[in-house]
Amino acid sequence: MLNKSMREQLLRNFLHYEMEKCDKGTWEHSLRVGKLCELLALEMGFEKPEVSYISLAGLLHDVGKVFMPEMVNYPGKLADKERYMISYHPQLGSRFITINWSDLPAQVFEGINLHHERLNGTGYPYHLHGDELSYAARIVAVADVFDAMSTMRPYRAPLSMYETFKELNNPGYDPDVVLALLKRLRNMDDKQLALNF
Ligand SMILES: [Fe+2]
Repeated sequence: MLNKSMREQLLRNFLHYEMEKCDKGTWEHSLRVGKLCELLALEMGFEKPEVSYISLAGLLHDVGKVFMPEMVNYPGKLADKERYMISYHPQLGSRFITINWSDLPAQVFEGINLHHERLNGTGYPYHLHGDELSYAARIVAVADVFDAMSTMRPYRAPLSMYETFKELNNPGYDPDVVLALLKRLRNMDDKQLALNF
């Protein structure tokens, strides 16, 4: 019988293989989001084991995309049908993790399932509001958007910090998490910001 840390390692290895096979960019984004979630949770005063669970939620947030590689790697702009299908990746990912790693805590499932929800109800797939969103979901949402906007994408250059924080200043994001991000960035050196793949 595998112990918990062995099972978590197995999960990470599986994900590395499957996600990198699906799309290297998504895997690298997931690694950065997982690390940033850990830093944000620490900055906000969370302690172990919460910090590890929030970090794991960040690492796994896009795991549902491994089931739709043709959509992730779709050449050009997604049509309405494909966009609709890909909008199910949070539910698909959270369901997959629930079935296979049911003993993980709720923070992990919520962080995956709700990372595209926004505090003002403009997110998806459930259009939840405010208190309906757990702290894990709020942290993963900010880390995801920050990384997605501030890094190079195949179709555009990285957006500026001004544009990124203009988006994060939107009422859909938790201001405490955004403040933690600003504090963390101020204290980070280049070494901490760089991830080696
Ligand atoms: Fe996502």
